Amino acid sequence: MNEMSKQGPALKPGEARCPAASTQEIIARDKVGAPDWVRSEAYEYMGSEDISKDRYINADYAKAEYERLWTRTWQFACREEHIPQPGDYHVYDVGPYSFIITRVSENDIRAYYNACLHRGTKLRASGTEGRASEFKCSFHGWSWNVDGSNKNVVCPWDFPHVDKAGLNLPEARVERLAGFVWINMDKTAPSLAEYLGPEAIKHINAWKLENRYIALHVTKPIPANWKLTVEAFQEAYHVIETHPQVAVSNADANSQYDVYGEHVDRFISPLGVLSPHLEGKYSEQDILDQFTVGDAGVLEGNKLSVGDGTARQVMADMFRGMFEKATNADLSAVSDSEILDCFSYTVFPNCFLFPGISLPMVYRFRPNPKNHRECLYEVMFLRPVGKDGVRPPPAEPIELTLEQSFKEAEGMDPGFGAILDQDTDNLFLQQEGLEASAKPGITLGNYQEIRIRHFEKAVDKYMAMPPLKP
Ligand code: FES
Ligand SMILES: [Fe+2]
Repeated sequence: MNEMSKQGPALKPGEARCPAASTQEIIARDKVGAPDWVRSEAYEYMGSEDISKDRYINADYAKAEYERLWTRTWQFACREEHIPQPGDYHVYDVGPYSFIITRVSENDIRAYYNACLHRGTKLRASGTEGRASEFKCSFHGWSWNVDGSNKNVVCPWDFPHVDKAGLNLPEARVERLAGFVWINMDKTAPSLAEYLGPEAIKHINAWKLENRYIALHVTKPIPANWKLTVEAFQEAYHVIETHPQVAVSNADANSQYDVYGEHVDRFISPLGVLSPHLEGKYSEQDILDQFTVGDAGVLEGNKLSVGDGTARQVMADMFRGMFEKATNADLSAVSDSEILDCFSYTVFPNCFLFPGISLPMVYRFRPNPKNHRECLYEVMFLRPVGKDGVRPPPAEPIELTLEQSFKEAEGMDPGFGAILDQDTDNLFLQQEGLEASAKPGITLGNYQEIRIRHFEKAVDKYMAMPPLKP
């Protein structure tokens, strides 16, 4: 690839771009045009300094994150379909904190601190969910109604000093958006709408994620700090080296990066287009073959012909037909880009949305409170609910061990499982390498790694605040 930028050498930092066709130029050639929020760019240069590595390797830093960052941010706690009926609850833990996310009535969802107000026992074990008519403590039997009011104190004569009116279960804040339930422990935090900002809300709403359900849910501990793990998915820069099998049909170096306010960023990584790193080495037919019948192919044996057209267009048409059939829906007005491309949004701090139709996923990342060098990574495939409106129950999580391959999860496409293994194998080496390194920080590309800088800027913002105890 020509290493000079498209605009020549005399550019300010952050202005240089891969010389190949830009993401916007690729999308502009598509048959079914994309909406304005796909056709816009929102990159911002945020400096070129190295990011200190302490944040990834220091146990005290991780401890401070629990008090400063996790207590103040909006977090994806569960999907609404986890708790469809009044009385349904789902336990969400982050670090030392634990919440019982409960549907009290159709439009009232609460997040109770998961601890008995007598001597602190968790009212529901971590990782559990179900339907409750009350929350009763397993130690001495104090109990609470589903609406959080105290139901019973055993031997009340012994607690004349306890005001029953003050015995409601304390709550974190709850908001709902796009079928997700979000919680925040900070009573003074901005609303979710302010936190995300109008542009990001517009994008999230446009994807209609409330009309999807969790078809597959896989969890796996990763031997790396949670932020390193998040950042492994924030750029397409690694594709050519880490996932060479997909670079043949992925515009990697010319993917687009955007930032929206402090907490949301995005990339659009076009598919059905040759990587600029491989320019001249593959034909349009090769690109199509790689995507459809190659190592990571989506078709079994049915070779398609590109004819006079482009691999990208044949693929967009093929996916449109496939998904229309699968969901019995009319996708004729949905753009080729939304159907085909890899869209990825970070919602700081724990959530990643991949809302594109060909690879619809949500990731969630949470630190391991016992080991700052480990986190829990979750992959949820969100499929559209069919035209009949019948919403299948959310898939139970398949809990992989640290040693297992993503390919072992039942229902995981093996080609995609291999990609996730490639991503996570690097993380172990990166964590250990950062600890072994003589260099005090990590270095980032100005454009392709802007989401990492943006993410760490948000980390810095919260870490500069005083501790907030819930
Ligand atoms: S600790 Fe819950 S009733 Fe005693
Ligand atoms: Fe990757």
